[in-house]
Amino acid sequence: MKVVLLPGDGIGPEIAASARRALAELAPDLALEEHPFGAAAIRAAGNPLPDETLAACLAADAVLKGPIGDPEFDAADVRPEQGLLRLRTELGVYANLRPARADGIDLVIVRELVGGLYYGARGVREDGTVFDTCEYHPAQVERVARRAFELARARSGRLTSIDKANVLETSRMWRRVVRELAADYPDVAVEDMLVDNAAMQLATAPERFDVVVTENMFGDILSDLAAAVTGGLGLAPSASLSDAGPGLFEPVHGSAPDIAGRGIANPAAMLRSTALLLEHGFGRGDEAAALEQAVDAALAATPTPDLGGSATTVEFTDAVLGALTGPAAARTL
Ligand code: NAD
Ligand code: IPM
Ligand code: MN
Repeated sequence: MKVVLLPGDGIGPEIAASARRALAELAPDLALEEHPFGAAAIRAAGNPLPDETLAACLAADAVLKGPIGDPEFDAADVRPEQGLLRLRTELGVYANLRPARADGIDLVIVRELVGGLYYGARGVREDGTVFDTCEYHPAQVERVARRAFELARARSGRLTSIDKANVLETSRMWRRVVRELAADYPDVAVEDMLVDNAAMQLATAPERFDVVVTENMFGDILSDLAAAVTGGLGLAPSASLSDAGPGLFEPVHGSAPDIAGRGIANPAAMLRSTALLLEHGFGRGDEAAALEQAVDAALAATPTPDLGGSATTVEFTDAVLGALTGPAAARTL
């Protein structure tokens, strides 16, 4: 069983080191292979997703990815983010699960990940007009909505589908497909909500949501908001899944260039992504739960500066490892 680890840029290598330690402790039988990706790969090979890295990801059982992105390439023709978009389509990971939990809040955003504005035609017309287009095929909507219905069925039986059907053609089709699918899931109560209202309600009443499904760009924005109301970006993990083949597990947050290299990044989102990898990638729910509990214990006892504490990335990781190997962990494992 092979895990490909892509450390990435900025704080990526710092939090990837935490994940490496957690996996070595919890799942020493998993082979861990590291490959260059993102800005680091552009510098080394002129390509954010070198052929060797892509081949290794496709041949892996799961991919664990640190954040990518570097201000140095913001205005360049070849950018780290292009490698990430390509990796997601090459892996076919259309369903991006972004859970957010805190006191009284327990929701999962199911974000469509390989369509919409991110992948539509874009360019510049002769008159200087610049355009990006939002395109969806009904089949793309149906497969991600089905995932969300299944997840809702396994959880509380409530699903909120978020769109902009009062304006967008793609949203009206999205809403129609979700409604048609609802007939297959009589046990799931589904509601439609416009995205502007959804943003307001996520900020003011996040506890009312359970499973949320939405298109790519809305999901990107709303998942940062959901992270913010449940403790911050440093805590938010994600799992991107296809129908078969390796999943891609990565934090919701970016490379945090403002704090990179200082050893103070919060590795909780990366460690929670590692727990999602153990659960969804390998069916190792017990180890995933043990890691989740150890991260919760470290968050309570040894918080990093983004949470008002003073622990370094390494000190936080020490606390997680301590909770994993301590006497309490022996009981839960
Ligand atoms: P960001 O998520 O990197 O940072 C936003 C704020 O949150 C910053 O103040 C940062 O310090 C803080 N933060 C984020 N993660 C943290 C952590 N683990 N611990 C403590 N603080 C943390 O967003 P940005 O600054 O807009 O983007 C920076 C770069 O990251 C851009 O190049 C962007 O394209 C890229 N990005 C990559 C991914 C990804 O790889 N999936 C996701 C988002 C952004
Ligand atoms: C995320 C990020 C990416 C996205 C960027 C870096 C392309 O913001 O994973 O949320 O927009 O999907
Ligand atoms: Mn994002």
